[in-house]
Amino acid sequence: MIGKLNHVAIAVPDLERAADTYRNAFGADVSDPVEMPEHGVSVIFIQLPNTKIELMSPLGDSSPIAEFLERNPAGGIHHICLETDDIGAASDRARAFGRILGNGEPKTGAHGKPVVFLHPKDFHGTLIEFEEA
Ligand code: CO
Repeated sequence: MIGKLNHVAIAVPDLERAADTYRNAFGADVSDPVEMPEHGVSVIFIQLPNTKIELMSPLGDSSPIAEFLERNPAGGIHHICLETDDIGAASDRARAFGRILGNGEPKTGAHGKPVVFLHPKDFHGTLIEFEEA
């Protein structure tokens, strides 16, 4: 039902500084920043051979990651994203085990594909994103 690890998302207080670290300390392939107002974040993508890392920083006044950064001021792993070939079926199956955030309907994610997020308290302390592959 679930497929590849699409990305690991890391919330950071300073996107450019984090991008510099990945670019210069790790020699990573780092994208330009992308603003995603509908998600309240700015994002930088780091392409790895087998998956991606997304660095995210808050955008706007009511960013969903602002509270996370208050609790983790240095930044930290925010969520993991797993691919699924059928987000409706994957959501229905997961819903029997816990909550889906928001209204439960898929939104368009950072890669233009439908995504949902599962409540971390119901899924072993990890915020899990499903993305339709
Ligand atoms: Co994500």
